[in-house]
Amino acid sequence: MHSSLDIKDRLQSLIINQETDYAKSIYKNPVKEYIDVKRSITEKRIIFEESPICIGTSALVPNKGDWFTVDIGNKSILVVRNNKTEISAYLNICSHRGAKLVEGSGTKAYSFKCPYHSWVYTLGGELKARPRENAFEEIHKDKCGLQKFELDNHQGFLWLIMNKKAKNKHSSNKTDLN
Ligand code: FES
Repeated sequence: MHSSLDIKDRLQSLIINQETDYAKSIYKNPVKEYIDVKRSITEKRIIFEESPICIGTSALVPNKGDWFTVDIGNKSILVVRNNKTEISAYLNICSHRGAKLVEGSGTKAYSFKCPYHSWVYTLGGELKARPRENAFEEIHKDKCGLQKFELDNHQGFLWLIMNKKAKNKHSSNKTDLN
């Protein structure tokens, strides 16, 4: 087991020498490892959902209403600065019929309007308005917000945490990040 200092030294020396690590002996990868659909799904789940992912820095969204999107695994994520101190991450999918809410990035938004049927969400992810409200009276607006993910702003680095496994890994990794 390498200490974090060993790893840092090794990395530094690889960078300086423009080298990479090599395995101790030649390893032949079976082709099926590259084309196995089940394996690909499992890997995506472990890498992108069950691990914390650094998706950018707080400097990308300096002002209230600044936002950007990023694709993580098969999911599109919307990152928004809600106010001076809070940055949030949502699944970039409308809660009505699953249309993608926004593309790219932007600044000084007051809300997000779905391009499909014009449902409008606040920066805090709540459903603010929808046309023909009376047609939806059985489904209260409170239940139609955007799906929110935990986002840890750690010294300006934004860590997306999609589930409990990712949270546990993030807590133990954080000591090395300090
Ligand atoms: S899918 Fe977004 S408003 Fe209908």
